[in-house]
Amino acid sequence: MRIGILCSGGDAPGMNAAVRSIVRTAIVCGDEVFGIKHGYEGILNEEFYIAQDGTLVMGIRSVSGLARLGGTILHSSRSKRFQTEEGIIAGAKILRKYRFDALIAIGGNGTLSGARDLGKVWDGQIIGLPGTIDNDLLGTDVTIGFATAVDTAVDAVDKLRDTAGSHDLMFFVEVMGRHCGDIALATAIASGAEIACLPEVQETPEGIVAKLMRIKDTGKASVIAIVAEGYQNGAVEMQRILKDAGNPFDSRAVVLGHILRGGSPVASDRILASELGNFAVSALVQGETGKMAGRINGELTLTPFEECVSGHKKINDDQLRLLQVVAS
Ligand code: F6P
Repeated sequence: MRIGILCSGGDAPGMNAAVRSIVRTAIVCGDEVFGIKHGYEGILNEEFYIAQDGTLVMGIRSVSGLARLGGTILHSSRSKRFQTEEGIIAGAKILRKYRFDALIAIGGNGTLSGARDLGKVWDGQIIGLPGTIDNDLLGTDVTIGFATAVDTAVDAVDKLRDTAGSHDLMFFVEVMGRHCGDIALATAIASGAEIACLPEVQETPEGIVAKLMRIKDTGKASVIAIVAEGYQNGAVEMQRILKDAGNPFDSRAVVLGHILRGGSPVASDRILASELGNFAVSALVQGETGKMAGRINGELTLTPFEECVSGHKKINDDQLRLLQVVAS
């Protein structure tokens, strides 16, 4: 079988570990893997990964040392052309031209929607892998990259705590996650933040200020608020809104932004990526198509693309309740 692999959308730590696992599993199964560069845009541009020895088929050594590397050696993009019917039809034609039998697409919501649409016009098999820091996909408990992003955010907040403590300050720390509050919630719990602003839980500015007053009354002089980028307009805006509403703390805003997408993946992301990469190739060998590989309750699963992109994962209510108890 000739398998193409690509990474699309925002890069996520662990994508490389997934590529490594896919290539090595395919070799064991007697299949050939071609790396497609820059995601779906790379299909349209016929842009392939060329190994150091000049070969197009990814060999065992072409993925050496990848488990610990952040980013993606295949490069990524958000292809506008592939969001159009003409683009997808053109992509299918190119995949036929190069005689691909299958495609593994690693990415988030947009990547899986692209895979679903491609499946309507291309008769090759397609399996998706959840590669996004946002953890917003249905069809898996955790996405590849989420754990590393949270670790990076917690590390940054730990550092900000020192300055917050030294200067009696409040920090509004913005974390990525698009419309999803998972990174913010996990970061708030792990960093011991006093306030978390999550898109899933809207609060009035007066309500948050009342909470801050109570915190101040208990003798606390410094505060950390984790703000999901999808809450209002993020940390800078929240700082302004709460100042106008009477925030009793002097404050600063910090946007962590793309820093969360970088860095060496933590062990759990490397393991998840390796498991799912291996599972994706086995699924192709068994004739599966049109599904995303995920891990739910410890079991490796396949969920149809349509289901994965039909909505967003719900916030974890148990963790929300936990945060309400421990953040005070
Ligand atoms: O989906 C990953 C993500 O990092 C989101 O958290 C964020 O909203 C978005 O991508 C940023 O995208 P870009 O890098 O294109 O600005």
